[in-house]
Amino acid sequence: MTTTSRAVLIDVPGGPEAMRLAEVPVGEPGPGEVRIRHHAIGLNFIDVYHRTGLYPLPMPARLGMEGAGVVEAVGQGVTHLQVGDRVAYAAQPPGSYCDVRVMPAMNVCRLPDAIGFEEGAAMMLKGLTAQYLLKHCRPVEGLQAGDWVLLHAAAGGVGLIACQWARSLGLRVIGTAGSDDKCRLAEAHGAEVCINYRTHNFVERVKAITGGQGVKVVYDSVGKDTWEGSLDCLQPFGLMVSFGNASGPVPPFAPGILGPKGSLYVTRQTLFTHIRSRERTQAMADDLFSVVTSGQVRIHVAQRFALADVQAAHRALEARQTIGSTILLP
Ligand SMILES: NC(=O)c1ccc[n+]([C@@H]2O[C@H](COP(=O)([O-])OP(=O)(O)OC[C@H]3O[C@@H](n4cnc5c(N)ncnc54)[C@H](OP(=O)(O)O)[C@@H]3O)[C@@H](O)[C@H]2O)c1
Repeated sequence: MTTTSRAVLIDVPGGPEAMRLAEVPVGEPGPGEVRIRHHAIGLNFIDVYHRTGLYPLPMPARLGMEGAGVVEAVGQGVTHLQVGDRVAYAAQPPGSYCDVRVMPAMNVCRLPDAIGFEEGAAMMLKGLTAQYLLKHCRPVEGLQAGDWVLLHAAAGGVGLIACQWARSLGLRVIGTAGSDDKCRLAEAHGAEVCINYRTHNFVERVKAITGGQGVKVVYDSVGKDTWEGSLDCLQPFGLMVSFGNASGPVPPFAPGILGPKGSLYVTRQTLFTHIRSRERTQAMADDLFSVVTSGQVRIHVAQRFALADVQAAHRALEARQTIGSTILLP
Protein backbone atom coordinates (compact mmCIF):
# COMPACT_ATOMS: atom_id res chain seq x y z
CA MET A 1 0.00 0.00 0.00
CA THR A 2 1.30 3.45 -0.86
CA THR A 3 -0.22 6.41 0.88
CA THR A 4 0.70 10.08 1.09
CA SER A 5 1.50 12.43 3.94
CA ARG A 6 1.92 16.10 4.52
CA ALA A 7 5.59 16.76 5.34
CA VAL A 8 7.64 19.87 6.05
CA LEU A 9 10.45 20.34 3.52
CA ILE A 10 13.21 22.84 2.86
CA ASP A 11 14.77 23.21 -0.58
CA VAL A 12 17.64 25.38 0.67
CA PRO A 13 18.74 26.36 4.18
CA GLY A 14 17.19 29.58 5.42
CA GLY A 15 14.83 31.32 7.83
CA PRO A 16 11.47 29.95 8.99
CA GLU A 17 9.99 30.94 5.61
CA ALA A 18 12.22 28.32 3.95
CA MET A 19 9.91 25.60 5.35
CA ARG A 20 7.00 24.49 3.19
CA LEU A 21 4.33 21.85 3.60
CA ALA A 22 4.26 19.33 0.74
CA GLU A 23 2.41 16.11 -0.04
CA VAL A 24 4.92 13.21 -0.17
CA PRO A 25 4.50 9.49 -0.92
CA VAL A 26 4.83 7.03 1.97
CA GLY A 27 5.55 3.40 1.15
CA GLU A 28 5.91 0.17 3.06
CA PRO A 29 8.64 -0.24 5.70
CA GLY A 30 11.74 -2.10 4.52
CA PRO A 31 13.90 -4.38 6.68
CA GLY A 32 14.49 -2.81 10.11
CA GLU A 33 11.87 -0.09 9.52
CA VAL A 34 8.39 0.82 10.75
CA ARG A 35 5.63 3.09 9.52
CA ILE A 36 4.30 5.43 12.21
CA ARG A 37 1.23 7.67 12.12
CA HIS A 38 2.02 10.66 14.34
CA HIS A 39 -0.32 11.98 17.00
CA ALA A 40 2.18 14.63 18.14
CA ILE A 41 5.60 15.86 16.99
CA GLY A 42 8.36 17.35 19.15
CA LEU A 43 10.03 20.67 18.29
CA ASN A 44 13.73 20.95 19.14
CA PHE A 45 16.48 23.49 18.73
CA ILE A 46 18.38 21.04 16.50
CA ASP A 47 15.57 21.56 13.96
CA VAL A 48 16.66 25.22 13.77
CA TYR A 49 20.29 24.18 13.18
CA HIS A 50 19.10 21.84 10.37
CA ARG A 51 16.91 24.56 8.87
CA THR A 52 19.61 27.24 8.91
CA GLY A 53 22.33 24.91 7.65
CA LEU A 54 24.47 25.11 10.81
CA TYR A 55 24.17 21.31 10.79
CA PRO A 56 24.16 20.66 7.01
CA LEU A 57 21.66 18.22 5.46
CA PRO A 58 21.46 17.02 1.86
CA MET A 59 18.85 19.15 0.05
CA PRO A 60 15.90 19.05 -0.29
CA ALA A 61 15.59 18.04 3.36
CA ARG A 62 12.85 17.02 5.73
CA LEU A 63 12.91 18.27 9.31
CA GLY A 64 12.11 17.00 12.77
CA MET A 65 13.77 14.46 15.07
CA GLU A 66 11.06 13.56 17.60
CA GLY A 67 7.52 12.23 17.53
CA ALA A 68 4.87 9.98 19.03
CA GLY A 69 2.13 7.96 17.41
CA VAL A 70 0.93 4.49 16.45
CA VAL A 71 2.79 1.81 14.48
CA GLU A 72 0.91 1.09 11.24
CA ALA A 73 3.28 -1.40 9.60
CA VAL A 74 6.41 -3.30 10.63
CA GLY A 75 9.30 -4.29 8.34
CA GLN A 76 11.25 -7.53 8.30
CA GLY A 77 13.49 -8.18 11.28
CA VAL A 78 11.82 -5.73 13.66
CA THR A 79 11.03 -7.73 16.78
CA HIS A 80 10.42 -5.12 19.47
CA LEU A 81 7.37 -3.46 17.84
CA GLN A 82 3.98 -4.60 16.54
CA VAL A 83 1.21 -2.99 14.50
CA GLY A 84 -0.96 -0.93 16.86
CA ASP A 85 1.78 -0.17 19.41
CA ARG A 86 1.81 3.32 20.90
CA VAL A 87 5.37 4.58 20.44
CA ALA A 88 7.65 7.61 20.71
CA TYR A 89 11.15 8.33 19.48
CA ALA A 90 14.11 10.65 19.14
CA ALA A 91 15.85 9.53 15.98
CA GLN A 92 17.78 10.12 12.81
CA PRO A 93 17.16 10.81 9.99
CA PRO A 94 15.21 14.08 10.24
CA GLY A 95 11.60 13.83 9.03
CA SER A 96 9.20 13.78 11.97
CA TYR A 97 7.38 16.96 10.83
CA CYS A 98 4.70 14.97 8.99
CA ASP A 99 1.51 12.97 9.44
CA VAL A 100 2.95 9.55 8.69
CA ARG A 101 6.45 8.30 7.90
CA VAL A 102 8.59 5.22 7.35
CA MET A 103 11.72 5.22 9.50
CA PRO A 104 14.33 2.98 11.12
CA ALA A 105 12.84 1.15 14.12
CA MET A 106 16.05 1.16 16.15
CA ASN A 107 15.28 4.25 18.26
CA VAL A 108 11.51 3.78 18.39
CA CYS A 109 10.27 2.79 21.87
CA ARG A 110 6.90 1.59 23.10
CA LEU A 111 5.23 4.19 25.30
CA PRO A 112 4.05 3.12 28.75
CA ASP A 113 0.24 3.37 29.06
CA ALA A 114 0.58 6.18 31.59
CA ILE A 115 2.37 8.47 29.11
CA GLY A 116 0.24 10.24 26.50
CA PHE A 117 1.23 11.03 22.93
CA GLU A 118 1.76 14.74 23.57
CA GLU A 119 3.97 14.04 26.55
CA GLY A 120 5.81 11.34 24.59
CA ALA A 121 6.51 13.66 21.67
CA ALA A 122 7.66 16.38 24.06
CA MET A 123 10.08 14.30 26.10
CA MET A 124 12.08 11.80 24.06
CA LEU A 125 14.85 13.93 22.53
CA LYS A 126 15.00 16.33 25.49
CA GLY A 127 14.57 13.66 28.17
CA LEU A 128 17.11 11.23 26.73
CA THR A 129 19.50 14.17 26.55
CA ALA A 130 18.92 14.96 30.22
CA GLN A 131 19.44 11.26 30.95
CA TYR A 132 22.88 11.05 29.36
CA LEU A 133 23.95 14.45 30.67
CA LEU A 134 23.23 13.44 34.25
CA LYS A 135 24.10 9.74 34.11
CA HIS A 136 26.91 9.46 31.54
CA CYS A 137 28.81 12.77 31.62
CA ARG A 138 30.60 12.41 34.91
CA PRO A 139 33.38 14.65 36.19
CA VAL A 140 36.63 12.85 37.02
CA GLU A 141 35.99 13.29 40.75
CA GLY A 142 32.42 11.88 40.47
CA LEU A 143 29.13 13.58 41.13
CA GLN A 144 27.50 13.15 44.53
CA ALA A 145 24.30 14.37 46.14
CA GLY A 146 24.96 17.88 47.42
CA ASP A 147 27.31 18.86 44.57
CA TRP A 148 26.64 22.13 42.75
CA VAL A 149 26.08 22.07 38.98
CA LEU A 150 25.27 24.89 36.55
CA LEU A 151 22.63 24.42 33.85
CA HIS A 152 22.10 27.12 31.23
CA ALA A 153 18.71 27.76 29.56
CA ALA A 154 17.13 26.06 32.58
CA ALA A 155 13.55 27.00 31.65
CA GLY A 156 13.76 25.48 28.15
CA GLY A 157 12.81 22.03 26.89
CA VAL A 158 15.91 20.17 28.02
CA GLY A 159 16.28 22.63 30.90
CA LEU A 160 13.05 21.94 32.81
CA ILE A 161 13.51 18.17 32.50
CA ALA A 162 17.17 18.29 33.56
CA CYS A 163 16.43 20.58 36.54
CA GLN A 164 13.88 18.15 37.95
CA TRP A 165 15.96 15.07 37.29
CA ALA A 166 19.12 16.59 38.75
CA ARG A 167 17.22 17.63 41.86
CA SER A 168 15.83 14.11 42.26
CA LEU A 169 19.44 12.85 42.23
CA GLY A 170 20.26 15.25 45.08
CA LEU A 171 22.30 17.68 42.98
CA ARG A 172 22.15 21.38 43.77
CA VAL A 173 21.25 23.08 40.50
CA ILE A 174 22.07 26.67 39.65
CA GLY A 175 20.08 27.54 36.54
CA THR A 176 20.30 30.45 34.16
CA ALA A 177 17.47 31.85 32.05
CA GLY A 178 16.63 34.91 29.99
CA SER A 179 13.89 36.51 32.13
CA ASP A 180 12.78 36.70 35.75
CA ASP A 181 9.62 34.74 34.92
CA LYS A 182 11.68 31.98 33.32
CA CYS A 183 13.91 31.92 36.42
CA ARG A 184 10.90 31.45 38.67
CA LEU A 185 9.72 28.60 36.44
CA ALA A 186 13.11 26.87 36.63
CA GLU A 187 13.11 27.28 40.42
CA ALA A 188 9.63 25.72 40.55
CA HIS A 189 11.09 22.75 38.62
CA GLY A 190 14.03 21.99 40.88
CA ALA A 191 16.68 24.66 40.33
CA GLU A 192 17.81 25.82 43.78
CA VAL A 193 18.64 29.24 42.35
CA CYS A 194 18.17 30.59 38.84
CA ILE A 195 20.11 33.58 37.54
CA ASN A 196 18.71 35.92 34.90
CA TYR A 197 21.83 36.05 32.71
CA ARG A 198 20.46 38.97 30.72
CA THR A 199 20.47 41.23 33.78
CA HIS A 200 23.15 39.66 36.00
CA ASN A 201 26.77 38.51 35.59
CA PHE A 202 26.26 34.77 36.04
CA VAL A 203 29.95 34.09 36.83
CA GLU A 204 29.90 36.48 39.81
CA ARG A 205 26.57 35.08 41.00
CA VAL A 206 27.76 31.46 40.75
CA LYS A 207 30.91 32.30 42.72
CA ALA A 208 28.81 34.02 45.41
CA ILE A 209 26.25 31.21 45.65
CA THR A 210 28.94 28.51 45.97
CA GLY A 211 31.03 30.44 48.49
CA GLY A 212 33.79 31.02 45.92
CA GLN A 213 34.16 27.30 45.14
CA GLY A 214 32.45 27.12 41.76
CA VAL A 215 30.50 24.16 40.38
CA LYS A 216 31.62 20.63 39.53
CA VAL A 217 29.87 20.51 36.14
CA VAL A 218 28.51 23.09 33.70
CA TYR A 219 25.89 21.89 31.19
CA ASP A 220 26.12 24.49 28.43
CA SER A 221 23.75 24.43 25.44
CA VAL A 222 23.86 28.18 24.81
CA GLY A 223 27.33 28.07 23.24
CA LYS A 224 28.99 31.25 22.01
CA ASP A 225 27.54 33.69 24.58
CA THR A 226 28.19 31.58 27.70
CA TRP A 227 31.31 29.54 26.84
CA GLU A 228 33.95 31.71 28.49
CA GLY A 229 31.89 32.51 31.55
CA SER A 230 31.01 28.84 31.97
CA LEU A 231 34.68 27.86 32.20
CA ASP A 232 35.14 30.48 34.92
CA CYS A 233 32.33 28.92 36.99
CA LEU A 234 34.11 25.56 37.37
CA GLN A 235 35.99 24.13 40.35
CA PRO A 236 39.49 22.71 39.75
CA PHE A 237 39.15 19.50 37.66
CA GLY A 238 35.58 20.57 36.85
CA LEU A 239 33.80 19.33 33.74
CA MET A 240 32.48 21.58 30.99
CA VAL A 241 29.78 19.74 29.03
CA SER A 242 29.11 21.65 25.84
CA PHE A 243 26.00 20.29 24.09
CA GLY A 244 24.45 23.05 22.03
CA ASN A 245 24.74 26.38 20.26
CA ALA A 246 21.48 28.30 20.77
CA SER A 247 23.40 31.62 20.65
CA GLY A 248 25.87 30.43 17.98
CA PRO A 249 28.71 27.92 17.85
CA VAL A 250 31.59 28.06 20.34
CA PRO A 251 34.59 29.63 18.57
CA PRO A 252 37.84 27.64 18.31
CA PHE A 253 39.90 27.79 21.53
CA ALA A 254 43.39 26.83 22.65
CA PRO A 255 43.45 23.88 25.10
CA GLY A 256 46.17 25.76 26.98
CA ILE A 257 43.54 28.00 28.60
CA LEU A 258 42.19 25.03 30.56
CA GLY A 259 45.31 24.62 32.71
CA PRO A 260 45.38 27.93 34.58
CA LYS A 261 41.61 27.83 35.02
CA GLY A 262 42.02 24.69 37.18
CA SER A 263 43.03 21.77 34.94
CA LEU A 264 39.53 21.64 33.53
CA TYR A 265 37.92 18.91 31.41
CA VAL A 266 35.88 19.78 28.32
CA THR A 267 33.59 17.51 26.31
CA ARG A 268 31.22 18.13 23.37
CA GLN A 269 28.35 15.68 23.48
CA THR A 270 25.59 14.59 21.12
CA LEU A 271 22.64 12.37 21.94
CA PHE A 272 23.16 10.33 18.79
CA THR A 273 26.37 8.78 20.13
CA HIS A 274 24.46 7.63 23.19
CA ILE A 275 21.48 6.12 21.31
CA ARG A 276 23.60 4.35 18.69
CA SER A 277 22.14 0.92 19.47
CA ARG A 278 18.67 -0.43 20.24
CA GLU A 279 19.82 -1.75 23.64
CA ARG A 280 21.29 1.57 24.77
CA THR A 281 18.26 3.47 23.49
CA GLN A 282 15.85 1.22 25.36
CA ALA A 283 17.87 1.31 28.59
CA MET A 284 17.97 5.11 28.51
CA ALA A 285 14.27 5.32 27.58
CA ASP A 286 13.33 2.95 30.43
CA ASP A 287 15.19 5.24 32.85
CA LEU A 288 13.34 8.26 31.42
CA PHE A 289 9.96 6.52 31.51
CA SER A 290 10.51 5.54 35.15
CA VAL A 291 11.20 9.10 36.35
CA VAL A 292 8.21 10.42 34.36
CA THR A 293 5.72 7.75 35.44
CA SER A 294 6.85 8.08 39.08
CA GLY A 295 6.23 11.84 38.92
CA GLN A 296 9.85 12.78 39.70
CA VAL A 297 10.00 14.53 36.31
CA ARG A 298 6.94 16.23 34.87
CA ILE A 299 6.89 17.09 31.18
CA HIS A 300 5.76 20.67 30.70
CA VAL A 301 4.16 21.00 27.25
CA ALA A 302 3.84 24.78 27.21
CA GLN A 303 3.26 25.46 23.50
CA ARG A 304 1.18 23.63 20.89
CA PHE A 305 1.13 24.56 17.19
CA ALA A 306 -0.66 22.99 14.23
CA LEU A 307 1.82 21.27 11.89
CA ALA A 308 0.79 23.80 9.23
CA ASP A 309 1.95 26.61 11.57
CA VAL A 310 5.50 25.27 11.83
CA GLN A 311 6.98 28.62 10.74
CA ALA A 312 5.39 30.34 13.74
CA ALA A 313 6.69 27.61 16.04
CA HIS A 314 10.26 28.10 14.80
CA ARG A 315 9.99 31.89 15.14
CA ALA A 316 8.86 31.54 18.77
CA LEU A 317 11.66 29.08 19.62
CA GLU A 318 14.39 31.23 18.06
CA ALA A 319 13.02 34.41 19.66
CA ARG A 320 13.34 32.82 23.14
CA GLN A 321 9.58 33.09 23.57
CA THR A 322 9.02 29.44 24.51
CA ILE A 323 9.34 27.69 27.85
CA GLY A 324 9.52 23.94 28.46
CA SER A 325 8.56 21.74 25.50
CA THR A 326 6.78 22.67 22.27
CA ILE A 327 4.83 20.24 20.11
CA LEU A 328 3.34 20.30 16.61
CA LEU A 329 -0.03 18.65 16.08
CA PRO A 330 -0.67 16.91 12.74
N1 LIG B 1 23.89 17.70 21.98
C1 LIG B 1 22.76 17.10 22.29
O1 LIG B 1 22.72 15.89 22.48
C2 LIG B 1 21.52 17.92 22.44
C3 LIG B 1 20.27 17.31 22.55
C4 LIG B 1 19.15 18.10 22.78
C5 LIG B 1 19.28 19.47 22.84
N2 LIG B 1 20.51 20.04 22.68
C6 LIG B 1 20.70 21.49 22.79
O2 LIG B 1 20.13 21.90 24.01
C7 LIG B 1 19.61 23.20 23.87
C8 LIG B 1 18.19 23.21 24.34
O3 LIG B 1 17.37 22.56 23.36
P1 LIG B 1 15.79 22.71 23.43
O4 LIG B 1 15.29 22.11 22.17
O5 LIG B 1 15.31 22.23 24.74
O6 LIG B 1 15.60 24.30 23.31
P2 LIG B 1 15.14 25.33 24.44
O7 LIG B 1 16.08 25.25 25.59
O8 LIG B 1 13.70 25.15 24.72
O9 LIG B 1 15.36 26.70 23.67
C9 LIG B 1 16.62 27.26 23.60
C10 LIG B 1 16.84 28.29 24.72
O10 LIG B 1 18.17 28.75 24.64
C11 LIG B 1 18.23 30.02 25.25
N3 LIG B 1 19.04 30.95 24.46
C12 LIG B 1 20.12 31.61 24.91
N4 LIG B 1 20.62 32.40 23.98
C13 LIG B 1 19.84 32.27 22.89
C14 LIG B 1 19.84 32.86 21.60
N5 LIG B 1 20.76 33.77 21.24
N6 LIG B 1 18.88 32.50 20.72
C15 LIG B 1 17.97 31.58 21.05
N7 LIG B 1 17.90 30.99 22.28
C16 LIG B 1 18.84 31.33 23.19
C17 LIG B 1 16.79 30.54 25.36
O11 LIG B 1 16.43 30.50 26.75
P3 LIG B 1 16.65 31.81 27.65
O12 LIG B 1 15.78 32.90 27.07
O13 LIG B 1 16.22 31.37 28.98
O14 LIG B 1 18.10 32.15 27.55
C18 LIG B 1 15.99 29.54 24.56
O15 LIG B 1 14.68 29.40 25.05
C19 LIG B 1 19.83 23.60 22.41
O16 LIG B 1 21.05 24.30 22.31
C20 LIG B 1 19.96 22.26 21.73
O17 LIG B 1 20.67 22.31 20.54
C21 LIG B 1 21.62 19.28 22.47
